[in-house]
Amino acid sequence: MEKVSVIGTGLMGNTITLAIAWADVPVIIYGLNDTETENAKNYINKEIETLIKSQLIDKDKAEQITESIEYSTDLKETAKHATFIIEAVPENLEIKLELFSKLESYCAKDTIFASNSSSLPPTKMAQNLQYPERVLGAHFWNPAHLVPLVEIIRGEKTTDRFIERAKELIYTIKKDPILVNKDVVGFVGNRLQFAILREAQYLYETGVASIEDIDKAVQLSIGRRLGVTGPFLSADLGGLDVFKSISDYTFSDLSNQKKASRTIDELVNNGNLGEKTGKGYYDWNEETGNEIKQKRQEELIHWLKKDLKNN
Ligand SMILES: NC(=O)c1ccc[n+]([C@@H]2O[C@H](COP(=O)([O-])OP(=O)(O)OC[C@H]3O[C@@H](n4cnc5c(N)ncnc54)[C@H](O)[C@@H]3O)[C@@H](O)[C@H]2O)c1
Repeated sequence: MEKVSVIGTGLMGNTITLAIAWADVPVIIYGLNDTETENAKNYINKEIETLIKSQLIDKDKAEQITESIEYSTDLKETAKHATFIIEAVPENLEIKLELFSKLESYCAKDTIFASNSSSLPPTKMAQNLQYPERVLGAHFWNPAHLVPLVEIIRGEKTTDRFIERAKELIYTIKKDPILVNKDVVGFVGNRLQFAILREAQYLYETGVASIEDIDKAVQLSIGRRLGVTGPFLSADLGGLDVFKSISDYTFSDLSNQKKASRTIDELVNNGNLGEKTGKGYYDWNEETGNEIKQKRQEELIHWLKKDLKNN
């Protein structure tokens, strides 16, 4: 079994650690200092409580999960122990390059360096390393312990044996990997997500529909179906003659904007960053923020229970 270490005690490091420990795979999470590891422990324990309340696990399992996690502030020890490292430090190439260089001086040459970056290509992250073939993307989605997909991204120099080991680990932790063969910006999931966001911005800014109605259109139509049928399955079920014809007359009319659009630009420039600042496309307060997050979590748990029943 791989010996896994997670670097970074932010949102993603914590939730990835929980996902790994949930599958009884021992994991060390490294934080910069005691405050960071203490915060990670509190976050993880709170999420474990939610799993118990949702009847996804019982108290014995919770204890097992807790015992599978070790918290560390010693990077060298964390790295030396590992055969598989997942970094979840901030989305900043310099920080990741510096981290990987340090790790390379501590780790055996076949220890995998997986990055959870949402957009930085593994090829770039491997650029200064002596053994770049071990670097790949392992892009978990938030919250990683509830969302099944992990994108495994191949860098230009990543070799098959590391890709295979990464896929194996993802199966071991009962998640579903997909292989992204080229490290294009945004990989697969985020490209699709942002294609929808670009069109949503365009529809709103050209007065076709309101923000609320555009959200509703996704939530109550394609959103309901996409959990079962992705775009190709949907096309096959709808009939390819129909989908080809709609593609032919719609594509030239869709947004092809090259940058974030006017409204989101203005909001960001005015410090309105969404739920975390109380204003974005919508107005937020603590109650409305918690309500929607709770609803989303309940939905993810509902899906996960279905997955577990089917496997
Ligand atoms: N937030 C998301 O929804 C999400 C989803 C998928 C992927 N990601 C990716 O995951 C990575 C982490 O994102 P996040 O949202 O958890 O960020 P975050 O800011 O919540 O956490 C980053 C953590 O790393 C710590 N850190 C900074 N420098 C470090 C270093 N040199 N060594 C160890 N720790 C260090 C920070 O103190 C912080 O605790 C990013 O690359 C991001 O693109 C984020």
